Amino acid sequence: MKSYLPAPRRALFSSAAGGLLLLSGCAAAPSILDPQGTAAARIADLWWLLFGLAMAVLLFVLGFLALALFRRRAELRSDARSEEEAAQREPRGGTRVIVLAGIVGPAIILGVVYTATLWTMRALATPAIDEGLTIHVIGRLWWWEVQYPEQQFATANEIHIPVNRPVRLVLSSPNVIHSFWAPELHGKMDLVPGQVNTMWIEANAPGVYLGECAEFCGTQHAKMQFLVVAQPPDEFAAWLDHQRQPARAPTADLAQQGQQVFLAANCINCHAIKGTDATGNLGPDLTHLASRRTLGAGIKENNLGNLSGWIVNPQHIKPGNLMPPAELSSVELQALLAYLATLK
Ligand code: CUA
Repeated sequence: MKSYLPAPRRALFSSAAGGLLLLSGCAAAPSILDPQGTAAARIADLWWLLFGLAMAVLLFVLGFLALALFRRRAELRSDARSEEEAAQREPRGGTRVIVLAGIVGPAIILGVVYTATLWTMRALATPAIDEGLTIHVIGRLWWWEVQYPEQQFATANEIHIPVNRPVRLVLSSPNVIHSFWAPELHGKMDLVPGQVNTMWIEANAPGVYLGECAEFCGTQHAKMQFLVVAQPPDEFAAWLDHQRQPARAPTADLAQQGQQVFLAANCINCHAIKGTDATGNLGPDLTHLASRRTLGAGIKENNLGNLSGWIVNPQHIKPGNLMPPAELSSVELQALLAYLATLK
């Protein structure tokens, strides 16, 4: 498309528009500068300290630069010597400035940064963790398996925690390296094959916090999100209690037919539904699928339309994921959707 703006103004306009887009993008994404958990708040404090120090150094350097530029010009003008002559003169206070600004200053600043970082790391390493609740998070290609071993159930892409309580997370990966990151709650922690890492998270207010994989892990790395749902203690206890129950047997005719479709198709090779013969463990546990907020690790809202699209052609929505398209007639698909909708 032909633009009627002259080139320099076009560049200005597009960079301003780009900046606006960037800003609006930032507003929607979870920010480490809007901490909602104890750990994230400590990390944000450290961030502001580093930012403040960096700005102070920048202003200091710019100040000296301006001084050098303008004083030198004034000197040259006032005594009208040649530029070569002026360059040969010993700069005033040169060595002192080098020692103070080049050695002492940086040593003090780096010392402060080092101490503040150690201080923060120590605070993050030793929370008063409640021993009654441990959550295992396993990085899959490309979704998050979430196990509650003490309560003996598994879910996917949605981690529920009680509010104001540090909860231990045990992180592992059977494939490649992923990184667990809920920016408003804590820093990142890698999930490394052959190694088990632990961390903890805590949310100081009830809410739903977006998290994502922060380590490139293949085709769908960018679509490997999860939600942390922080709930008041009684609500959390009710959720736990509900999730550990097996799926209720469907009562409506269509849903019953759907269950037969599910059990006869190759769904059961990968998926488990507690209370049925389906015990696959390659894909997400579907026992309470309908109670989850999203599909495909956070990329689609969990509703029947999206679920239908996902079942028919998951490779279109998330190319490269391990789920093959289901070959079902429209009657079978309708029945299957009716069944899956009962898995609350
Ligand atoms: Cu998992 Cu990136």
